[in-house]
Amino acid sequence: MNVYDAARMTDLLAENGYDETQAEADADLVVLNTCHIREKAAEKIYSELGKLAIVKSERAAQGREFKIVVAGCVAQAEGELVLRRQKAVDLVVGPQSYHHLPELLARGARAADTDFAVEEKFRELPRPTPSQIAARGVSAFVTVQEGCDKFCSFCVVPYTRGAEVSRNVAEVLAEAQRLVDSGVREIVLIGQNVNAYRGADAAGRAVTLERLFERLSRMDGLKRLRYTTSHPVDMTQGLIDAHAALPKLMPFLHLPVQSGSDRVLKEMNRRHRAQDYLDIVARLRRARPDVALSSDFIVGFPGESEEDFEATLALIREVDFASTYFFKYSPRPGTPGAERPDQIDEETMRERLARLQDVVEAQRHAFNAATVGRVVDVLFEKPGRHAGQIGGKSPYMQAVHAQGSLDAIGRVLPVKILAAGTNSLSGEIVEARELE
Ligand code: 5AD
Ligand code: SF4
Repeated sequence: MNVYDAARMTDLLAENGYDETQAEADADLVVLNTCHIREKAAEKIYSELGKLAIVKSERAAQGREFKIVVAGCVAQAEGELVLRRQKAVDLVVGPQSYHHLPELLARGARAADTDFAVEEKFRELPRPTPSQIAARGVSAFVTVQEGCDKFCSFCVVPYTRGAEVSRNVAEVLAEAQRLVDSGVREIVLIGQNVNAYRGADAAGRAVTLERLFERLSRMDGLKRLRYTTSHPVDMTQGLIDAHAALPKLMPFLHLPVQSGSDRVLKEMNRRHRAQDYLDIVARLRRARPDVALSSDFIVGFPGESEEDFEATLALIREVDFASTYFFKYSPRPGTPGAERPDQIDEETMRERLARLQDVVEAQRHAFNAATVGRVVDVLFEKPGRHAGQIGGKSPYMQAVHAQGSLDAIGRVLPVKILAAGTNSLSGEIVEARELE
C-alpha cells in the first residue's frame, strides 16, 4: 500500500511542478513514506532523517531549498513528535491526509496533518497521466479498501490507517479502466483487509469483492487480477467460488494466519481457530485445485509456549505454503499485546524464527522445483537482468525469466520452466504468439 501511496503522492506533486528524481543531489523535496508496523521499520526513519538534516544544512549554506516531508504511518502515529524530534523536518502528513501536501507546501510553515480524510483523499487526488502509468509497468495496484476494524492485539494498523472504508465501485472501475487504457495488464486490488471490501454501487448498495472482480473481468485488455491482503474471517464462499468461476483471477492467495495455536489466535484477537483456516484452504483447493498460498506468521507473541509454536509448525506443514513471511513479535505502543507482562525473550524468538524459516524455505523450494518441466503462463513485465532476457510472473507469483524480445512485455506467453533458482525460475518461451 505504501508503494501505491508513494505513486499517488508523486502524481500529486507532478501537478504542482515537481519532477521525480532518483538522485538525492537533485532533489528540492524529499518525502519519506514510512511504515510503523514493527519497531525496526519505524526507528529507521530517525536515522534516515538525521542524514537528510545534514544535506539540508549543506543546501542552506548554498542558499538552496531542501524540504523534508515525513508521510505514512510513522507520521500518523507520532504526528507533531516528529517535528520536535527532528528540527529539519518541514511537514508531517498521515496516510489519509497526503492529498493536502500541495496546500501545506504552499503555506510554507512547519506543520503536522494527521486528519482521517480518506474519502476526500480519493476524491481529490489527481488521475495519473498515461505516461505516468506506462512508466510504472504492466502490473498496477489499485487501493479499493483502507483501514481495519479487526484490532488484532499486536497490530497498529487500526490506529494508523483508521477504520475500514471501501471506495465505491464506479471510482474503482474508472481507475482500473484508465490503467488498462494506458497498457496495464494486471491489476492487484489492495487493502489492509481487502476481502472485507463493501463498496457502494450507483444505487448505494454494498458490492462484495467477488462482484467487483466479475465487473473487472469483463474489461478487455486486462489479463490478470489479484488481491491482497485478506483476513480469514472475510474469506466467504462467494469469494472462494470466484476462484473457480473467473479465469482472470490468479490462483494465488496471500492469507495471513499469524499462528497455528488456538490459544494464541484467541489472545491475538484473530476471531478464528486453526481449523477454520484449514477449512478455508480445503475449500479454496476444491474450487481451484492449483491455488498456491502464502501467509504471514508472528513468532514470539507474548505467552507463546513451545507447544503453541509447534502448533504453528504443524499448521505450516499441513497447508504447504508456496511462500511465507515471518516476523519476530514487535511490541507496538498503544496495542494490548505491548502491555502484557509475559513477553518472550529475544533468544527464544530467534531460535523459533530459525526453526520456522527452515520449514517454510523447504516448502518454497519444493514448490518452485515442482514447476520445473511444466509449461506455465507468464505475464512479462520488464527487461531481465541480462541482455536479451525478459522477466515476468507465473500465475503463482513466481518470478520467471526467459530469452525474449522486449515487445513481449505486457503479453502472457507459455513458458517451459527449465530450472528453479533461489528466488526465480528460468525457462524458454514455447509459443511467442499470445493465446487469448
Ligand atoms: N510484530 C510483528 N509482526 C507484526 N505484524 C503486524 N504487527 C506486528 C507486530 N507488532 C505482521 C503481521 C501482519 C504483517 C503485515 O505484519 O504478520 O500480517
Ligand atoms: Fe492488523 Fe491485519 Fe489484524 Fe487488521 S486484520 S489489525 S491490519 S493484522
